Amino acid sequence: MRLLGHPIHPMLVHFPIVFWTVAAAAYVADAAGMGGEGAGAVAMYSNGAGLIMAMLAMIAGLLELRSIEGRSRTMQVAIWHMMLMATAWFCFVLALVLPISAGPHVDHSMASLAGVASAVVGFLFMGAGGWLGGRLVYEFGTGVKNQPEPRANPIHRS
Ligand code: HEM
Repeated sequence: MRLLGHPIHPMLVHFPIVFWTVAAAAYVADAAGMGGEGAGAVAMYSNGAGLIMAMLAMIAGLLELRSIEGRSRTMQVAIWHMMLMATAWFCFVLALVLPISAGPHVDHSMASLAGVASAVVGFLFMGAGGWLGGRLVYEFGTGVKNQPEPRANPIHRS
């Protein structure tokens, strides 16, 4: 799926990466009592924005899968990339939902701690998924147009 000749998935992925990175840091800062009044709100809104942008990135990524040959190493890596990112998404949903799900029968501080842990685990999954995304592009050339033949790249001395 392309816009003006450029694949859309890489245009979108920066948004969830930034939002979720800010969210994870804010969740940790809030739990450590370092972020002041606003850290909890920053974590929640940044997480929500990350979830929405990741959903858009996932749609574009799924459409990009059509350009990859079915039984190939590239497809295997793409499937792993997809699963890691889907797990990251689920972790950040938990981070959002757990702290507000605390009721009379659930200890609020335990629920908040579970939320922070989910955000940190989600961040790690996102990092691993992003690394595989990089492999897809820079190792296998997925989405790269008119790939040049590998050359010796000689050094010219005068
Ligand atoms: C259903 C889920 C997803 C699928 C099927 C998918 C698929 C792909 C594919 C095919 C590529 C290589 C070609 C291209 O860039 O278009 C890629 C690259 C990448 N993806 Fe995903 N993706 C998914 C979700 C995500 C999410 C949610 C993120 C970010 C949070 C993400 C981050 C990346 C990154 C960083 C790259 C490397 C881009 C670059 O360096 O240019 N992906 N993905």
